[in-house]
Amino acid sequence: MTPHKLLLLPGDGIGPEVMAEVKRLIGWLDAEGILRFEIEEGLVGGSSYDADKVSITDATMAKALAADAVLFGAVGGPKWDPVPYDVRPEAGLLRLRKELQLFANLRPAICYPALAEASSLKPDVVEGLDIMIVRELTGGVYFGEPKTITDLGNGQKRAIDTQVYDTYEIERIARVAFELARKRRNKVTSMEKNNVMKSGVLWKEVVGAVHKREYPDVTLEHQLADSGGMQLVRWPKQFDVIVTDNLFGDMLSDIAAMLTGSLGMLPSASLGETDARTGTRKALYEPVHGSAPDIAGQGKANPIAMLASFGMALRYSFDRGDLADRLDQAIAGALAKGLRTADLAAAGATVVSTAEMGEAILKEMQALTA
Ligand SMILES: NC(=O)c1ccc[n+]([C@@H]2O[C@H](COP(=O)([O-])OP(=O)(O)OC[C@H]3O[C@@H](n4cnc5c(N)ncnc54)[C@H](O)[C@@H]3O)[C@@H](O)[C@H]2O)c1
Repeated sequence: MTPHKLLLLPGDGIGPEVMAEVKRLIGWLDAEGILRFEIEEGLVGGSSYDADKVSITDATMAKALAADAVLFGAVGGPKWDPVPYDVRPEAGLLRLRKELQLFANLRPAICYPALAEASSLKPDVVEGLDIMIVRELTGGVYFGEPKTITDLGNGQKRAIDTQVYDTYEIERIARVAFELARKRRNKVTSMEKNNVMKSGVLWKEVVGAVHKREYPDVTLEHQLADSGGMQLVRWPKQFDVIVTDNLFGDMLSDIAAMLTGSLGMLPSASLGETDARTGTRKALYEPVHGSAPDIAGQGKANPIAMLASFGMALRYSFDRGDLADRLDQAIAGALAKGLRTADLAAAGATVVSTAEMGEAILKEMQALTA
C-alpha cells in the first residue's frame, strides 16, 4: 500500500486540540493497516510567526506543495492582533490557497438526526439534511481589478470593486459541481444574478453549456442567488449540489452552515485543478470555525468539524469514500448515544471534553470496522 502524504498544520488556539483527535484516528487506521500515511507536521499562523516571524515559512509551503493533502486546523487570536498586516496569521492560509491554486471550496451542510433539535429551524425542515455548496474561491469580486477607493475632491469618495469571471473559471467550477452531483443525488442548482449582472449572464450561459456538452445526465436548475438564499431556509432539502460564485458562495454557505446547528460541526475542502498526467489534485481540508481563543486550552472544543474535514480528505483525496462514510456513521453514532461537547449541549446535559468526544468516535469506528 503506497502511503498517503499528509501535511498537518494544526495552527493556533483550538487548532492543535482538535487536530489531536485526527491524529488519534490516523494512528488507529495506520496501526490496523487500514490506511498508510506519511505524516509531516508544520507551523502556520501565529505559532509560525512566533517561531519564524512569518505566517508560513517557504519550507512549510514546499511541504504543502509536495503533499497529497493538507489538513489545516485554525489560525489567529488576539495575541497576534498587533503583528504587521502581511505576516498576520490569516496570511498563511491565504498563501496556501493561492499557491496551491485552490479554486473550488466545498462545504457540506449535513444535519445529523440527533442534532435536528439544535438548529434554529424546525426539526422536520433540517432532519436528514445533506447538501453541498460549491463556491468559486479564487475569482470574482474579491480579487477583480480595479479595486480602489478614490477621493473625488468634493468631500466624496468612490469605492470600486470589480466582479469579473472568465469562461474557464466558470467551466472548471461547474465541472466540480457536476462531478460531485453524479456521486450524490445527481442534481445541480446554479445560483447567479443573471437578471442584473453581466457576470451572472455569462455564469448561467457557461454552466448551461458545460451541462449540455458534458453532463446531460445530471439535472440542472438555475435560481437567482437572492431567492436561492430564501429557499435555503424555507426548504433546504430541495437541494443537492449548489454551485455559485465567490461572493454569493460566501454568504450562502454561511446560511447553509447555520442550518446544521454549531460551528463546531462544519468541515470544508478546497480543491485545485486535476493534473491530467497524474489524475491527482492539490487539496486543503479545514474546519469552517476559527481558533476560538475564548475556549482554547480548556478541552472544550468540539473536534467533529476537524474529524469530518479529515473525512472529506478520505473521500476526495484518498478515494476512500467507504471510510469517509464509516466516519460519518461513527460521528452520528456518538451523537445518538447522547455525547455532546459544550457547544452542542442543551442546558443541563452532561458535557464531554474534546478528547472524550474523539475517543467515543474512534470507539464507534472500531465497532463499525469489527
Ligand atoms: N480559517 C481560520 O483559521 C479562521 C476562520 C475564522 C476565524 N479565524 C480566526 O479565529 C479567531 C477567532 O475568531 P472568531 O471568534 O470570530 O471565530 P471562531 O470560529 O474562532 O469562534 C466563534 C465562536 O464559536 C465557538 N467555536 C468555534 N469553533 C468551535 C468548536 N470547534 N467547538 C466549540 N466551539 C467553537 C468559539 O468558542 C466562539 O464562541 C480570530 O483570530 C479569527 O481571525 C480563523
